[in-house]
Amino acid sequence: MTAQAGICAEPNLHAYYLMFNVLPTGFSGVPDALAQVPALWQSLAQTYPDAAFSGLVAIGHGAWDELYPNARPGELTAFPAQAVGQRIAPETPFDLFFQLRADRLDVAYVAVQKVMALLAGLVELKDERQGFRYLEMRDMTGFVDGTENPQGEDRAQVALVQAGQFAEGSYIHVQHYRHRLARWEKLAIQAQEDVYGRTKPDNIEYQSADKAPTAHTKRTSLKDDAGNSMEILRQSLPWGTASAQGLVFISCCNTPMHFTRMLESMFVPDEQGHFDHLTLFTQAETGAAFFAPSQEWLSTKGD
Ligand code: HEM
Repeated sequence: MTAQAGICAEPNLHAYYLMFNVLPTGFSGVPDALAQVPALWQSLAQTYPDAAFSGLVAIGHGAWDELYPNARPGELTAFPAQAVGQRIAPETPFDLFFQLRADRLDVAYVAVQKVMALLAGLVELKDERQGFRYLEMRDMTGFVDGTENPQGEDRAQVALVQAGQFAEGSYIHVQHYRHRLARWEKLAIQAQEDVYGRTKPDNIEYQSADKAPTAHTKRTSLKDDAGNSMEILRQSLPWGTASAQGLVFISCCNTPMHFTRMLESMFVPDEQGHFDHLTLFTQAETGAAFFAPSQEWLSTKGD
């Protein structure tokens, strides 16, 4: 089995993100179209070797059974929406998610055109975003993002289902965040650093004892009941227009449980009333749960 390259790919410079819903008349045709996706990813990577292209298609939890009735990834469920007062992480389900990444914007755009042609007449485009590397891999809040991501072989261990018919697949969660930058920029640098538990210019992690219980890196560093670290592989990239900025957050994991527990820890106050103070400075506008099957699963349409 072979994982789609976009799951574990090293960071790129550019990305397009496309969300589709399948048209009522399209369900019988989409598995055939998606069976051609592995060849499309290969051809783009070979045609533009300097672009480090990586593709990813993932199937939404609500559309899975109609597209692939024979078998379903065991843990594929709805997005774990959160709502605590004005701090919300809504569920906005979509049937298909494409992440098209490259170090050349034009090549990523060629991929967009190929995907649109492949799915013409079968789907409706519901959401379209563009992400890009910002400065030294910084988020729009000015902090380096991705430092504690799994590295090397650990990326596959964390991101890919290890065994069974869904081996080399990945549970994907996508959220589009819009930052409240005017509010964020009113904070002194030290206060911003306390929100993350890392320093801003040189990206140094605070000592654990110095991290506030509300620090983002504290709220998302979780252990399971057996004491093992619950990890995810983040493939997020910033987005920005002239008037608004934020993050396209993407989590890839061999189980949806880790993302779910982290998101709860960010939003739901604990017994002491602590929650992730980053959620005061950014607003989740979308949230959707998917599974990205192996290339072989796509090619054989799950038969
Ligand atoms: C760490 C930014 C949302 C999970 C970080 C770091 C930054 C950051 C700057 C520190 C550097 C690093 O290790 O990457 C953001 C922003 C977000 C966001 C701007 C939203 C706008 C999320 C969400 C989750 C998450 C929704 C999971 C549900 C993590 C994890 C770490 C991390 C697991 C590493 C913690 C550690 O081991 O130190 N994030 N993040 N983040 N974030 Fe986020």
